[in-house]
Amino acid sequence: MGKGFYISKTVGIVGIVLAAGALATITALPVVYSQEKSKNEVKSTDPTVAPSNEPWDQWRLPQTLSPKTYNVTLWPRLQPDPTGLYIFTGMSSVVFRCVEKTNLILIHSNKLNMIKQPTLTALGSKPAPTIESIVMHTKTQYMAIHLKEELTAGESYELYTEFLGELSDDLGGFYRSEYYENGVKKVVATTQMQATDARKAFPCFDEPAMKAVFHITLLHDPATVALSNGVVIGKVNITVDGTLVTRTTFAPTEIMSTYLLAFIVSDFVFIEQNIDNLQIRIFARQEAINAGQGEYALSVTGPSFKFFEKYYNVPYPLPKSDQVALPDFSFGAMENWGLITYRETSLLYDEGISSNENKERIITVIAHELAHQWFGNLVTVRWWNDLWLNEGFATYGEYLGADEAEPDWNIKDLIVLNDVHKVFAIDALASSHPLSSKEEEIQRPEQISEVFDTIAYSKGASVVRMLSTFLTEEVFTQGLQTYLDHFKFSNTVYTDLWEHLQRAVDSSGTTLPRTVQEIMDRWVLQMGFPVVTINTTTGQITQEHFLLDPETKPDRPSEFNYEWFVPISWTKKEAAQALYWLLQKTEQSDHMKISGDEWVLANINVTGYYRVNYDNENWQRLLNVLQTSRQSIPVINRAQIIDDAFNLAKAEIVETTLALRTTLFLASETEYMPWESALDNLDYFYLMFDRTEVYGPMQTYVGNQVKNLFDYFTTLTNWENVPPGHTDQYNQVNALRVACSTGLEDCTTLVKTWFQQWMENPKVNPIKPNLRSTVYCSAIAAGGEKEWDFAWEMFEKATVASEKDKLRTAMACATEPWLLNRYLKYTLDPGKIRKQDVTPTIVSIASNVVGQPLAWDFVRANWEYIFNQFGGKSFSFPNLINGVTNRFSTPFELEQKLLLSPGMGIVYQTLWFQTTITSLSGLDSS
Ligand SMILES: *[C@@H]1O[C@H](CO)[C@@H](O)[C@H](O)[C@H]1NC(C)=O
Ligand SMILES: *[C@@H]1O[C@H](CO)[C@@H](O)[C@H](O)[C@H]1NC(C)=O
Ligand SMILES: *[C@@H]1O[C@H](CO)[C@@H](O)[C@H](O)[C@H]1NC(C)=O
Ligand SMILES: *[C@@H]1O[C@H](CO)[C@@H](O)[C@H](O)[C@H]1NC(C)=O
Ligand SMILES: [Zn+2]
Repeated sequence: MGKGFYISKTVGIVGIVLAAGALATITALPVVYSQEKSKNEVKSTDPTVAPSNEPWDQWRLPQTLSPKTYNVTLWPRLQPDPTGLYIFTGMSSVVFRCVEKTNLILIHSNKLNMIKQPTLTALGSKPAPTIESIVMHTKTQYMAIHLKEELTAGESYELYTEFLGELSDDLGGFYRSEYYENGVKKVVATTQMQATDARKAFPCFDEPAMKAVFHITLLHDPATVALSNGVVIGKVNITVDGTLVTRTTFAPTEIMSTYLLAFIVSDFVFIEQNIDNLQIRIFARQEAINAGQGEYALSVTGPSFKFFEKYYNVPYPLPKSDQVALPDFSFGAMENWGLITYRETSLLYDEGISSNENKERIITVIAHELAHQWFGNLVTVRWWNDLWLNEGFATYGEYLGADEAEPDWNIKDLIVLNDVHKVFAIDALASSHPLSSKEEEIQRPEQISEVFDTIAYSKGASVVRMLSTFLTEEVFTQGLQTYLDHFKFSNTVYTDLWEHLQRAVDSSGTTLPRTVQEIMDRWVLQMGFPVVTINTTTGQITQEHFLLDPETKPDRPSEFNYEWFVPISWTKKEAAQALYWLLQKTEQSDHMKISGDEWVLANINVTGYYRVNYDNENWQRLLNVLQTSRQSIPVINRAQIIDDAFNLAKAEIVETTLALRTTLFLASETEYMPWESALDNLDYFYLMFDRTEVYGPMQTYVGNQVKNLFDYFTTLTNWENVPPGHTDQYNQVNALRVACSTGLEDCTTLVKTWFQQWMENPKVNPIKPNLRSTVYCSAIAAGGEKEWDFAWEMFEKATVASEKDKLRTAMACATEPWLLNRYLKYTLDPGKIRKQDVTPTIVSIASNVVGQPLAWDFVRANWEYIFNQFGGKSFSFPNLINGVTNRFSTPFELEQKLLLSPGMGIVYQTLWFQTTITSLSGLDSS
């Protein structure tokens, strides 16, 4: 799956645990949470309440049967039945081989009603056993077919079922999405199978290692188009039950996992391109395609595809790849083999309306899903506990594929901000977890959903990048290629990849201090990461598990004692770059011992997954270099120094003053990465302190720092032109956002004028696409009802999803409580705010200082509705809880938050607060 949901493990657990209890009216959420949590803990450790040993009470399928082929016909009804219900009917036959004799057929089936007695046929010489009884197990989501006699090992059988299911709007399994076009309501039937919802569409052996060939047929209205993984091989009009329908038959799939299936019936249209016999199509709403919104995606999909084919050195086995934009989609995108589905904002782009950020999102999401077409689809991890490898790799691949399509963007650098720094914040908590889990720890559908977290995506990507860097790209791709070739159409565990990489290492003559497996075990099997301290006075290098909250201890022990084999790339003022392997807790290196105005910088370009601390003297020298000749430090490391220093300060390893001093050089910096890194960290100060007396001095300091940047962009663009570089465009937005939020009058006037002009002439939006998010937010924050209502009207009229998103987010910037309360109410009405957008909307409101308490009250008051809609296994629910409590910093609030998510590492904030005011007043930015 593509990103689009970012949650921490801890918060993830909150959602899951709550799902276990039937919650009625809840007034004190934290209390109920802790009760539920303790109940749950008892359950999982008390053997007396363990379920039976019967196979249907186990979460994993027995190994007795192995599917070979399916023949599935589905008929989704895009009109409601007389009771207002949307349904689909289907028939499916599955041919399976009996591996071990048994008198039980256990097959996944969830929320499906059998409308005919299932039948069993033997394909061998012996007759099929008689069916004795059929029992549906709703908890474990099985249909259990008990047989009078046994199935014979080695023989094949065919099970035939006819069934009916609801085509509901729950964004999972076979579901429906709705939208309006020219005032007419349109309904789309579409799917999201990953991780465990194929069983909601038809009975199947729904585990990733149960690969099979699928023959898919869809029945649909002749006025609609049907899509599936394969190409269309037959299309006829027939009459079924008195209704004229088109029957579209698809070519059988390759051998594949159920979670990668997809079916779509819609009246979408497409644009296409053929590259070397590969058909690439972009499908979307007619209005969007006609407005050219698919063109950008079409132009970058081909190059990205070609890149991966070469990179993996394995041909793409399918003749086509469809990319489909859906109005309702719970994730960023889904890599279904040959039929990739996207949220509209992840695929559709409008030159005059969308920003460069929207553009980057599209190319990275496409690259992510294309990376999966091989890594994930062709070769699939055996079970969900290894998901991190699948998602980590695809997340790393995002940058490679995007770089190919947009070579001028330096997009590979951004992984440091978007993934490495982001996941450092989560992985430095005592409650983090290792990348890899044990197979038996990931059993239930909720547990499977839970593994799709930031650790899997972003830490996975970070360690894959580290691995590829220390092996060298050449050796890494060599091993990757033989791995894919060897395991194509089958399943693996992550150590299979290590083995192939080791072979590549051995045949290349590269030397490593340990085997690939030995090195990687420490990064994969233990949570967290080290802070490496280089003492340039003594030449001593030390590693220590980095925890943000120094008071905490890791929740779990580590067989490696929280020590790592750390590849330390480093440079000095007067020396070329070198690599040092830190293999012990403490080592001594004379190279690191320096004096005079020499300095040491480690973790060049942050290719290593660790933070760096120095002795005070070296810190001072680095600060001095930043002030006097910052070009001698690579731009990524200028961002690193800031982020490391701020986080070391949070962990009370260095002084807060040191952290703040790393931002002094920004007064003359114009590069995006250092600025973004600083703003991310300063935002945290704002989050914690914007209701305190720190706020004033903060505003003054940041205002002074940004002045030069604002002037730089004024000269460069006059706020009329678009800066040439991709990251310069981002930094132009930063300049505007920060200058306006710190009250620079030139800025606020500019923004007010633009928005006024737009309100006077709504047909012509004079605001540059890149600047819209910021301008809308500033104008709505400074305005009142008139501005808000105008934004709402424009939101309702917008036909480009990314434009809608910008307005939706900006409306949360309002500063009048009643406007925010009204907006919160709108989130309960799917006619106003789509279900997929409810969580992000509430979270945006909560991130506004005025909105935070309102959002918190709102969530508590509407707990039952929100929980029913987004609880269970939705990713957005934990995101919501995290979002609304993000700003909690008073002792009372912290207490509530600690109850919700224990071990979040927030105690240090109180301490930190005291040192901040003094530090700020001591800073001189001139
Ligand atoms: C699939 O089933 C349909 C109807 O039951 C049948 O007409 C068709 O031949 C079957 N296809 C395959 C490949 O078995
Ligand atoms: C099916 O019927 C529709 C309209 O009734 C027509 O446009 C279409 O060409 C027909 N398709 C086939 C394959 O006959
Ligand atoms: C660090 O990153 C920059 C920018 O991407 C690149 O130009 C430089 O070659 C990298 N340095 C090393 C040592 O890889
Ligand atoms: C570096 O070593 C010196 C001399 O032993 C010691 O005083 C200092 O505290 C050390 N600094 C760090 C950060 O370890
Ligand atoms: Zn993915």
